[in-house]
Amino acid sequence: KHHLISAADLTRDDAVMVLDTAQELARLADRPIKKLPTLRGRTVVNLFFEDSTRTRISFEAAAKRLSADVINFSAKGSSVSKGESLKDTALTLEAMGADAVVIRHHDSGAPHRLATSGWIGGSVVNAGDGTHEHPTQALLDAFTLRHRLAGSGDGVGRDLTGRHITIVGDILHSRVARSNVLLLTTLGAEVTVVAPPTLIPIGSEGWPCSVSYDLDAVLPKTDAVMMLRVQRERMTAAYFPTEREYARRYGLNGERMATMPEHAVVLHPGPMNRGMEITAEVADSPRCTAVEQVTNGVSVRMAVLYLLLGGAPAGPAPSAAPAT
Ligand code: CP
Repeated sequence: KHHLISAADLTRDDAVMVLDTAQELARLADRPIKKLPTLRGRTVVNLFFEDSTRTRISFEAAAKRLSADVINFSAKGSSVSKGESLKDTALTLEAMGADAVVIRHHDSGAPHRLATSGWIGGSVVNAGDGTHEHPTQALLDAFTLRHRLAGSGDGVGRDLTGRHITIVGDILHSRVARSNVLLLTTLGAEVTVVAPPTLIPIGSEGWPCSVSYDLDAVLPKTDAVMMLRVQRERMTAAYFPTEREYARRYGLNGERMATMPEHAVVLHPGPMNRGMEITAEVADSPRCTAVEQVTNGVSVRMAVLYLLLGGAPAGPAPSAAPAT
């Protein structure tokens, strides 16, 4: 495959290959000199039209740990603010020899446009487009679940077959929810989305998951719960739930977390609204994997760049020779 635009691009075997490769790269990078020489001489461009902390930094760290040259482009402070189009921006990057373009954009579909336009010859990786998809977030969430649930119950193999995963919150505006529903079900999990009726998208009946409005009914049967931020910046004021009412019905607090099975974990993609969808008590508890997800994000993004730019899948391991 040349691009990663949607979690739907990945078959079960593709997804397991990315996760296995990420695991192998994490093992190789777990030493004082973290760099591998694998992408030496290649150029990765981070093209961010929308704010990001975790995704931008971890793609940069991932590319650097593979010894690629990294160009960071932020629309703020660039000629985009003078009206330059996506096409002209892309042609400029192409002229600089980008082997991969990692794009975050406020418009759903912008990465697809970039991948199919012919404006650039390199690989395109979707780092989050509008309310559409965020496939590397879903991959790092699956990596975290595979790791955290491996020791529980009857164990987890290379996929997530039979696991019950609950995604809670602003499903309507969440690219993280869309990509996770697609990827986690591809990996064999049974996914339930939980939200107020106003934050469930029209058309979600066609998604490969169950829908519930009752968080308390779902929690005792879940292996993992993923809490999502309410994305006020994508809502008109009429949609805003009140913080107190939302937290009372859909927020995860210590009392609710205690109703989950003992092995069950809490994921959050970040950024968090502490006090709204998650209390500080839950966010800071050992059951919450938010920080671990960020660490895993670097390994997963290393695997994505490595595989897209021509590396061999896990098995014949990437060279462990330290970069000079
Ligand atoms: N989870 C995530 O995409 O975070 P950022 O917006 O900080 O990249």
